[in-house]
Amino acid sequence: MSTTILAIESSCDETAAAVVVDGHIVKSNTIYSQIDLHTLYGGVVPEIASRKHVEKMNQVIRTSLAEADVTWNDIDAIAVTYGPGLVGALLVGVSEAKALAYAKKKPLVGVHHIEGHIAANYIENPDLKPPFMCMVASGGHSHLVYVKDYNSFEIVGRTRDDAAGEAFDKVARAIDLGYPGGPKVDKLAKEGNPEAIAFPRAFMEDAPYDFSFSGLKSAVLNYLNQCEMKNIEYNRADVAASFQKAVVDVLTDNSVRAAKAYDCTSLALAGGVAANSALREAMKNACEKNGLTFYHPSPIYCTDNAAMIGVAGYHAYQSGVRDGWNLNAVPNLKIGERR
Ligand code: KG4
Ligand code: ZN
Repeated sequence: MSTTILAIESSCDETAAAVVVDGHIVKSNTIYSQIDLHTLYGGVVPEIASRKHVEKMNQVIRTSLAEADVTWNDIDAIAVTYGPGLVGALLVGVSEAKALAYAKKKPLVGVHHIEGHIAANYIENPDLKPPFMCMVASGGHSHLVYVKDYNSFEIVGRTRDDAAGEAFDKVARAIDLGYPGGPKVDKLAKEGNPEAIAFPRAFMEDAPYDFSFSGLKSAVLNYLNQCEMKNIEYNRADVAASFQKAVVDVLTDNSVRAAKAYDCTSLALAGGVAANSALREAMKNACEKNGLTFYHPSPIYCTDNAAMIGVAGYHAYQSGVRDGWNLNAVPNLKIGERR
């Protein structure tokens, strides 16, 4: 007997639904991205995101069911992201999922967004099984997570300030690349020299797996200001490449050290920044050197999507998780916590 999950995701600026069978077969993965709308403002405007989710949610779910070629009879449970994220945005998905679960008499399973990002790795890597170390780097979060089991997590390291994606977005804005910055820095960096400018790498003495990106961000802004004051024209591609290299070095070094300290044989990447080509390359090489098997999702499963929520939802469902009509959006939900 197979298990089919309808998954819903609306924690930030993507309205998404997916149909996932047995925790790894993606029958449909429908994403309505609001990026163009928020680009006008240089970042996500929470109120606009919520309103757009309301407008698009039914259509996205209908498309997802149609593309998967399933009917409501085929759906075993409804999984939905209930945190962390923007409260108004989360509420749209949670309300929708509750209404559908009630009307169609289906079990409801609340999913943690970051646990979803981690679970994205199971879609294309059937050989990946816990335990493993996972570096989750997205626009809102940067965590090094020891995945003990499908539903059991330990946070090994975290950012002290900015998330990695946030640093990419802020530096991109400073060199006029626009929003969202990650993919644009990634592309421009290919034309630049990563050794051109010596930007700092922050390592924490008291917490060896934590990281910090605000010092790096300030160093980039200072460099740009200095150049402007001295009327020196800077090379944007070199700035992008040198900044990116600093982020990649820290993420890679911390991840590999943590994986070894926890006796892991596998290291995985997750979250929007996992789509970064330089990070993937560096992680692949570092894993090879250290005898670790390296995993990462395809770019479409790195950035926000509902398929990953369907995978995490499947494992929660299998372990007996059933949420009630009191399921609520929890904007600051912690990894491994259930509310
Ligand atoms: O996981 P995600 O879609 O949303 C959150 O949960 O935050 O991550 C979005 C973040 C943005 O900051 C974006 O700039 C970054 O991921 N990102 C990238 C790349 N693609 C997306 N950062 C670096 N390189 C990329 N190729
Ligand atoms: Zn995300």
